[in-house]
Amino acid sequence: MKTPPPSAVRRNEISPLPPLAEGIGLPWDVAVDDAVEELARAREQYGDTFVVETGRDRYLFTFSPVGVESFYALPEESASKGVADYLMLRRKLPEEIFDGRRTLPGGLFRKGDVAHYLENLQAALETTSAELGTEGTFDVFAVTRRLGHRMGLASWAGPGCAEGDAFERLVVAFDALDGSDAFVHPDAMAAVEASGKADERAALAEITEVVGDSLGRPGGSDLFVRIAEAWAGEPDDVRRQGIAWDVALIHIASMSNLAAALGWSLVDLVEHPEQAARVVAGDQALAERCTLESTRLAQRSIMGRTVMAPVELDDGTTTYTVGPGATIATLLPLTNTSSAPGYEDWQPERWNRSRLADPSALASPALVTAFGHGKHSCPAQPFSLAAMSMAVTHLMNTYELEPGWSSYPVPVPAQIGGVARADGPCPLQYRAR
Ligand code: HEM
Repeated sequence: MKTPPPSAVRRNEISPLPPLAEGIGLPWDVAVDDAVEELARAREQYGDTFVVETGRDRYLFTFSPVGVESFYALPEESASKGVADYLMLRRKLPEEIFDGRRTLPGGLFRKGDVAHYLENLQAALETTSAELGTEGTFDVFAVTRRLGHRMGLASWAGPGCAEGDAFERLVVAFDALDGSDAFVHPDAMAAVEASGKADERAALAEITEVVGDSLGRPGGSDLFVRIAEAWAGEPDDVRRQGIAWDVALIHIASMSNLAAALGWSLVDLVEHPEQAARVVAGDQALAERCTLESTRLAQRSIMGRTVMAPVELDDGTTTYTVGPGATIATLLPLTNTSSAPGYEDWQPERWNRSRLADPSALASPALVTAFGHGKHSCPAQPFSLAAMSMAVTHLMNTYELEPGWSSYPVPVPAQIGGVARADGPCPLQYRAR
């Protein structure tokens, strides 16, 4: 990929200029009925590559096979995923949480680490069954979210943070601080800004207190010990806050997709008794395929790269030069289910481990994904698939499950990013086997 000389390209410039999607804005800036539908309509009208000007931002969207391949090959130095994520999350999270972090979510998935997280998940599943008792009705996404909190806090917060009063306080605080609100409820971000992020700052202070207090207790997960060691030797208040904010950012990253994807996996398995029976009988490989397939179908991710230095994007027809400040983007729900016949259906057998068994009907394998492609693809994929399949197997082994929904749950319409959240309750009746 050639890089044009910086002096020749103006800020936000896109040259040649592809069609401008007239009257289309993104849900942070304008009210939309359905953020994904809006961009699908723009694609129908303007083709696979078009520009959206929204608020103060300029997006170059691309959906063609070569365009999407070029997107995943963009170099981080000139088209940054890190900056795009930061600009998105900053709408919700207090800016100060990003300063000076010493242990980042990307460094969490060494082999030994994952085994510990899965042990914590097993314990969290047993606690979940104890909380649920023998029969009743639970909301799928509420239960998977609480499970994610318990497994995550046992894995990276301090001793005692995954139980009792400390756990309940952290659940309330993380639900208020949740960075994924930036893309699940983009329409609420103007109010967050107007409030000066008061609720979010109060939640961060609460997390700092609870995690800080855990430092006085013996024990702690391997990861927590590593997080704490990185702050050894600092004055007490700096160390306490540094550790708590590292834990907070890690936990927030873990909340983006995993609990929601697990929720859809459970919904789909309950809707497919034949595969559910095989999973209950112990078919671990099928369980992973099912969770991967549910994650693909529930994807609502906008994938963005903020241009830092002039860069070129080839969409197969035209090579565009894009100037700093613009965002190059694609949207998974517009390619994942419609790039070849049959991709709109739930068919777990299309996966062979984490790859498509037969991508030959696709103009490019890059058009379909659950965890991303290229060097930014999710480092948590193997862990997430193992965790989701362990969780669905446990819940379906412990309980007979009956859907309490009359039609298949639908995503929050304004959501643009991450795995879909259900728009409304999603009750599941359960009775111990
Ligand atoms: C089902 C669960 C999950 C799904 C579907 C998922 C999906 C994704 C996707 C699609 C990307 C690529 C985004 C892009 O290219 O712009 C990604 C990247 C990433 N994910 Fe996940 N993720 C999941 C779980 C997790 C968890 C549990 C964590 C950690 C706490 C995590 C941490 C990350 C990080 C750090 C990256 C960025 C990697 C990089 O920039 O090099 N993910 N994830």
